Amino acid sequence: MQKYLIWLLIFVPLAATIKITDFKNSTKYHLSTIEATFPQALFTCKLYGWTLATEKTAQDTANLESFLTQSGQTSESIWLGGVYQVINELAAKWIWIESGLELSYTNWQSGEPAFSNSTTYSTCFKKNALSGTYSGQWYANTCETTSYYFVCEDY
Ligand SMILES: *[C@@H]1O[C@H](CO)[C@@H](O)[C@H](O)[C@H]1NC(C)=O
Ligand SMILES: *[C@@H]1O[C@H](CO)[C@@H](O)[C@H](O)[C@H]1NC(C)=O
Repeated sequence: MQKYLIWLLIFVPLAATIKITDFKNSTKYHLSTIEATFPQALFTCKLYGWTLATEKTAQDTANLESFLTQSGQTSESIWLGGVYQVINELAAKWIWIESGLELSYTNWQSGEPAFSNSTTYSTCFKKNALSGTYSGQWYANTCETTSYYFVCEDY
């Protein structure tokens, strides 16, 4: 988390802001029409008073997938609002950024989360494209060097 915050502070202010008009909305969700790194995505959601989307329950998964389908976004992956918090290697855990709470419900694709305990990059995760092989399931990837579309949600 500390490492992640440092990256956020250093790089996000330099990133171009994604405009509020670059989102497709429902009453709860806001889908970006532009790809961004995880820090950029998180910063953008915050800027507009939203948070990066979470899936804390199977019902959340169903709601989010219904929104993505209605928005016509079934072919691309999206960031979700969680990160692998590495305080040290013995106390590493997956948390939702917004609450800081460890994931209880999970929706990992087979073989995930697979990643190294890298000291170079932070690890976040995306929701796979609904039309792909691992439809809507989660896949871990580096936060700062990968760009995906993302969904913000209202608090
Ligand atoms: C989504 O909602 C925001 C904030 O209400 C608004 O500014 C934006 O134009 C909306 N986007 C679309 C595509 O309607
Ligand atoms: C990373 O560290 C965690 C916590 O010790 C451990 O459970 C996990 O297996 C490690 N991952 C790898 C790929 O070594």
